[in-house]
Amino acid sequence: MEKTFVFGVSVEGDNFTDRTQETKRIRSNFENGVNTILISPRRIGKTSLVKKVCSSITEPSIKTIYMDIYDCRNEYDFYTRFATSVLQGTSSRIEHALESAKEFSISLGIKPKDIEPETILSLPEKIARKKRAHIVICIDEFQQIGEFPDSLTVQKRLRGSWQHQQSTSYCLFGSKKHMMENIFQSRRMPFYMFGDTLYLKPIPTREWIPFIQSRFASKGKFIAAELAEKICSTVDNHSSYVQQLAWNVLLQTESNATEQNLKDAVKELLNQCSSLFTQQTESLSSYQMNFLKAVCSGIHSGFGHKEVTDRFDLGSKSNIARIQKSLTDKELIDKIDGRTVIADPVLRLWLTSQYL
Ligand SMILES: Nc1ncnc2c1ncn2[C@@H]1O[C@H](COP(=O)(O)OP(=O)(O)OP(=O)(O)O)[C@@H](O)[C@H]1O
Ligand SMILES: [Mg+2]
Repeated sequence: MEKTFVFGVSVEGDNFTDRTQETKRIRSNFENGVNTILISPRRIGKTSLVKKVCSSITEPSIKTIYMDIYDCRNEYDFYTRFATSVLQGTSSRIEHALESAKEFSISLGIKPKDIEPETILSLPEKIARKKRAHIVICIDEFQQIGEFPDSLTVQKRLRGSWQHQQSTSYCLFGSKKHMMENIFQSRRMPFYMFGDTLYLKPIPTREWIPFIQSRFASKGKFIAAELAEKICSTVDNHSSYVQQLAWNVLLQTESNATEQNLKDAVKELLNQCSSLFTQQTESLSSYQMNFLKAVCSGIHSGFGHKEVTDRFDLGSKSNIARIQKSLTDKELIDKIDGRTVIADPVLRLWLTSQYL
């Protein structure tokens, strides 16, 4: 059965809505050899977007290669993933990949002792030149690089090699916004100014409304535009949650969706997320919890003011700075236009329902 609303996995085809501007910009980068860096909060749609752009490129001289490095723990894991993805992505069959491996003196199942990082890193460029093609390498969960032992040296090595390549470009993206920013936005870091940086914004409500309405219609049900709009605003237009909440509403709806259906659907969403949120918050100190409560109560700046520290028991100024740093590192809070917010809109609803 075709799913009416899809969440939790990357989406394609009819399940993919909007993103016309972003698709155009990234595709133009791919076609013109411009490196791309894609940053957004979790589950907004980075993977879906990059896969869509890759599949939309029909020009035979441009080859796109997608790899996910979420499980790479060190640079050698990375080189193995990199080499196999490049060889498989540029050869039409496995045997060809093995032949290319020999030709380019690469051994698959790379071991730390026989690794030549430079040989591996320059592989796409060599293949691209030989095939007179342009290769675009898309690396998902790129922030993993920041966790590697001796990460800075690895980053220097990658950048050093990649920046000289003429026939290969890169699209780097990942689900941990804060770590991605650390890699790409600090002047001191090797990947600073590596390419065109896109902040992927939520899909606008005007795009979601017809999408949600048509999905309801496909099941013989109706949802008014105002209610579809409320689905979006309840979860701050967060892509994955819009789909999940719309699905919950659809399940509640007899024929015409009602306000009550939405209320029940939100309750259900909180239930569905509850164990994850419990896990994410149970090890927090009481100061850290107090800080989250302050943000949920509508405080977004000026945490050091006496009224705020007294009301929420946040401790000294230096304590507050520590709390903010550790909650940011855990990706629980985020700073948008100078305002501190709970990074996950449903976590915010859940905290509010639990503690306020
Ligand atoms: N263009 C889109 N149209 C409709 N729904 C979308 C779109 N992009 C994302 N979504 C919704 O968001 C969910 C997550 O998408 P995706 O996995 O692409 O996001 P991501 O940003 O890569 O997530 P993560 O941060 O976990 O890596 C999808 O399952 C889908 O429900
Ligand atoms: Mg992703």
